[in-house]
Amino acid sequence: MEVIILPTKEECAYLGAGIIANLIRDNPKCVLGLATGSTPVPVYNELIRLHKENNLSFAEVTTFNLDEYIGLSADHPCSYRYFMQEQLFNEVDVDLNATHVPNGLADDVQSECESYEELITKSGGIDLQILGIGSDGHIGFNEPCSSLSSRTRMKTLTGETIEDNSRFFDSVDDVPRHCITMGVGTILDTRSVLLFAFGEGKADVISQSVEGPITSMVPASALQLHQRVKVIIDDAAASKLSNIDYYKEVYANRP
Ligand code: GLP
Repeated sequence: MEVIILPTKEECAYLGAGIIANLIRDNPKCVLGLATGSTPVPVYNELIRLHKENNLSFAEVTTFNLDEYIGLSADHPCSYRYFMQEQLFNEVDVDLNATHVPNGLADDVQSECESYEELITKSGGIDLQILGIGSDGHIGFNEPCSSLSSRTRMKTLTGETIEDNSRFFDSVDDVPRHCITMGVGTILDTRSVLLFAFGEGKADVISQSVEGPITSMVPASALQLHQRVKVIIDDAAASKLSNIDYYKEVYANRP
């Protein structure tokens, strides 16, 4: 893991968006794995700016989102499809037919999950996956105890996640209890990962994921097994790491 600690989330977003933009410029047909939640929003804002001001084109890019709530339609304001339309897709020139979010209204959830995996494979696999992290260590919606080799499937959200995500809904009772999420194994198969985390509230879980043991109790810790992960975090999210000075030295003296 490469741990990159910068003073603010804006600087993290600028760096991350630059990495994504370079990938798109090198390989306009690349496949991006996208995330929701508040963390990637500044990254998406910077990508939108690069599209509008620097001719960054998404016209040939394919995207796969990590997850979706079961029971919410694409036009529900709390669905992740809706979120992606608002936060990124409607603002850039991506072909909407090449954007994929699991269908939260699928009649046959099992076959929706299998098709999602097949589509990722048919597209050639994900070149770069963007991740945030839940306060309980989830990536996508892989809650604690998720198999570290899991594939896209239905999961039940923990009470902690329901509580955390209730801020986007009118009330905690409106938060769906189930979701479809790419598995930890699906995420480990991606060619590279950018994990972002901002703020003091993520400091404990970042320390467990980066420096703790690999355990299904902290699904993000499985990223220690991935060969190309950049953990891009602000000073606050890094504050509980033991090796801050070393990570900063490595980054300052990168070849
Ligand atoms: C949701 C998403 C995750 C995301 C997490 C953190 O649960 N399924 O992909 O990482 O929220 O959200 P936030 O970035 O708002 O802290």
